[in-house]
Amino acid sequence: MLDLTAKVHDESRQGEAYAPFVNDPTVYRKKFYIESYGCQMNFSDSEIVASILNKEGYGATRNAEEADLVLLNTCSIREKAEQTVRKRLTEFRKAKESKPGLLVGVLGCMAERLKAKFLEEEKLVDMVVGPDAYRSLPGLIEEAETGQKTVNVLLSRDETYADISPVRLESNGVTAFVSIMRGCNNMCSFCVVPFTRGRERSRDAFSIVAEAQDLFDRGFREVTLLGQNVDSYYWVNEEAAATVQNAAGEAVTFAKLLEMVALVSPDLRVRFSTSHPKDITEEVLLTMAKYENICKYIHLPVQSGNSRILQLMNRTYTREWYMAKVDQIKRIMPDCGISADIITGFCTETEEEHQETLSIMEYSKYDYSFMFFYSERPGTLAARRYKDDIPEEVKKRRLQEIITMQNRLSVESNKLDIGQTYKVLIEGESKRSDQDWMGRNSRNKAVVFAKGNSNYKKGDYVYVTITDCTQGTLLGYLQQ
Ligand code: 5AD
Ligand code: SF4
Repeated sequence: MLDLTAKVHDESRQGEAYAPFVNDPTVYRKKFYIESYGCQMNFSDSEIVASILNKEGYGATRNAEEADLVLLNTCSIREKAEQTVRKRLTEFRKAKESKPGLLVGVLGCMAERLKAKFLEEEKLVDMVVGPDAYRSLPGLIEEAETGQKTVNVLLSRDETYADISPVRLESNGVTAFVSIMRGCNNMCSFCVVPFTRGRERSRDAFSIVAEAQDLFDRGFREVTLLGQNVDSYYWVNEEAAATVQNAAGEAVTFAKLLEMVALVSPDLRVRFSTSHPKDITEEVLLTMAKYENICKYIHLPVQSGNSRILQLMNRTYTREWYMAKVDQIKRIMPDCGISADIITGFCTETEEEHQETLSIMEYSKYDYSFMFFYSERPGTLAARRYKDDIPEEVKKRRLQEIITMQNRLSVESNKLDIGQTYKVLIEGESKRSDQDWMGRNSRNKAVVFAKGNSNYKKGDYVYVTITDCTQGTLLGYLQQ
């Protein structure tokens, strides 16, 4: 799963028209402010929370100072993520002192991990709400308003928020996340997610397609199907199964779902994240190859390039197996981009084993990687079974070697694009200049090019010929 560094509200976007930030007091009697940390799933969850709060008469604001309710949607994946949230809470503590009645709530994975303990540790927090309990927010807020501290961290086996239409919070109006499943049944030994997000469950396929269709009708041109482990998506139409005519029901696999969403429109791009290498099937790859609008890009976390470490991590594949998966992807889609998550300095990792991570990176030719050093998380299998025995300076040095390798691979991959022409979906103006557009090609590479005299706008597809690149961006010119 992708892990964005804490992305607080992007100031550069202030002033643009966002539907949810309506300050009409006749519609919304109160204001909430929400910050999201961690993975895309968390950002997507905040949009569900916004929808629930809108219905309760809370309008979103980008200005924490004018909020009646402040929410932090938190992440527990590494210790540093939790420290960032705690630091932020001390800032809101001050705000609370100067504004009696201001409510502060902690949502998401940290709420789930620490439960009521959070209230003891951070005395000024009013509400602690886990990822499966957002429907209870209105009741919890009401209780908190009477001065009561409130907690709901119940995990669910079936909550998917399928019927809640997310309010797009920081949207560019072109790309959107669509959550397709929740929770995770994999037991990677380093990972806190199975504890914070509970068991895996898949969302009603028809509600997913309806959401994609609605986004398309509203001008969106790209959806990213989100889940901790999208390839194990599996939904059975219970209603159909209940009828005599179709006793077996209709099972929808991830490949089938991809196809259903791709068929919404050839002008709607489909992406997905995250895949577990053990679960991504040939059928998924063939479906990707079949539809031009399913983007040729797979985020395929490797975590380590060494089979012994992979076993300790409980990843259930070996180095060779992963390499064969990369071969299969390239055989079916020679132009498919691959990216990875990598953890360095896992318990007992030797220098030779670290070298194998570097060499699998070279083999896989990742376009990008999200790279971390191991951070022990309380309660996980690794924390219980193995000693976190790699000294911090060694972890950091190995991480630096991995980053250097990735930087080289990214530049090499981008250089191969020079001279090529790509179909690019315009997402908005380039951050550096309002004279340039920024968009992405199918392979998820950012492409920047001059607007020139053209009348294109956000959400349009254009063809761009690449002339140059940096480590993170392709530069080119518009084909007229
Ligand atoms: N320490 C470091 N990195 C971790 N990740 C998950 N758990 C840990 C941990 N305990 C990384 C993995 C995962 C990504 C989202 O975060 O690489 O794929
Ligand atoms: Fe996302 Fe929770 Fe994992 Fe953080 S700990 S990356 S918020 S699932």
